[in-house]
Amino acid sequence: MEYDIEEMKRKLKKYGQEHLLNFYDTLEEKKQKRLLEQIEGIDFELINSLYNKTKNENIHEEVDVKPIEFIDKYKLNGDYKYYEEIGKKAIREGKLAAVTMAGGQGTRLGHNGPKGTFDIGLDSHKSLFELLCDYLKTESNKYGVNIPWFIMTSRENNNDTIEFFKKNKYFGYEKNIYFFIQGQLPMVDTEGKILIGEDGLIKEAADGHGGVYESLLKSGMTDKMKELGIEWVFIGGVDNCLVKMVDPVLMGIAIDKNVTAAGKSVVKDNPYEKVGAFCKKNGKPSVVEYSEMTKQMAEATDENGELLYGESHILCNLFNISAIERMGREPLPYHSAFKKATYIDKDGNKIVPDSPNAYKFEAFLFDAFGEVDDMAILRVKREEEFAPVKNASGVDSPETARKLYNDFYKLS
Ligand code: UTP
Repeated sequence: MEYDIEEMKRKLKKYGQEHLLNFYDTLEEKKQKRLLEQIEGIDFELINSLYNKTKNENIHEEVDVKPIEFIDKYKLNGDYKYYEEIGKKAIREGKLAAVTMAGGQGTRLGHNGPKGTFDIGLDSHKSLFELLCDYLKTESNKYGVNIPWFIMTSRENNNDTIEFFKKNKYFGYEKNIYFFIQGQLPMVDTEGKILIGEDGLIKEAADGHGGVYESLLKSGMTDKMKELGIEWVFIGGVDNCLVKMVDPVLMGIAIDKNVTAAGKSVVKDNPYEKVGAFCKKNGKPSVVEYSEMTKQMAEATDENGELLYGESHILCNLFNISAIERMGREPLPYHSAFKKATYIDKDGNKIVPDSPNAYKFEAFLFDAFGEVDDMAILRVKREEEFAPVKNASGVDSPETARKLYNDFYKLS
């Protein structure tokens, strides 16, 4: 594609982003092309409004937050088998696919490389990707099908991820693995200027796990799924080594209750645990973040003494393809995060900040839940399904995840 550089300069000037072409002449041809492509793809109005919003973060719309109904998997009694049979039938018919979101930066963990390549220190030294793949292979065998595995990467980690899979011969699951890349947005400094990265190109960051719906749609993955006869899609993170992507009870409930989305929850450890909780916002399924809750809300209980907002959202959700398509078409709000970002300043110097200096914009997966009228919530057991690897040490670290994994599989 041919670009009109003069026209581009005028546009950049209009938005106060002229500096983006400062080093254009020093770039090799391939990079020049990529830079122009990047600029052409930027929605400057959107970036301006996101930047302006960082100044007014405290302005919140009035939202009516209410508790959401849920089902406890272990209090289903006779219904357990009923739902399980419905789900099992659909899985045996090849209607389930799994999506793993592996596009995050894993900044808190500090691992050098895609998070999925991280070894949590099990005796087997298997990576998170291999643990997830082992699980899918076992479940596929159990149901006599091949459950397709769609892996979302970011531009930043896509090559490393694919290399890792190649090196490991796709853990013997190659025919069932599909990679797709999530969207990204430019990072801006505290003046609203878009950053230039060390490579002379625009510094972009993955657009958050909420980007999963649009990316599935735009990359053609939903079409691929339909071609494969898939109707239900489990979407989870790469960093929960106990994630149960194949759950016939969850699926059976969604099918039986005729809802297009279902989510799993675990009971909060305590009222102030720093996790989001399932709820209803303006009558629609949603997640209320811990930071949005007053002390009174966090501590409120029902007649049985259970927390009203105690169902933690653990990034384990099931969607009908129709819901993904709907969610993928609707723009989600972006949230800003203030991060450290190495960049090239206007004089061409590389700046490595030692404290946050730039905004990154992310969409959250649960902001799309409101697109469906109802969502079934299934409470499951933390020790069976939730072993996140977020931090290098302490809570939700390799050490805690390793223990949970070993305890669950009775490995030590
Ligand atoms: P987190 O929000 O915990 O982020 O992602 P993270 O990138 O792993 O870690 P930090 O916050 O930088 O320390 C939860 C899940 O969503 C995925 C992650 O890979 C993880 O599986 N994710 C997050 C994406 O796929 N893309 C994103 O843009 C963000």
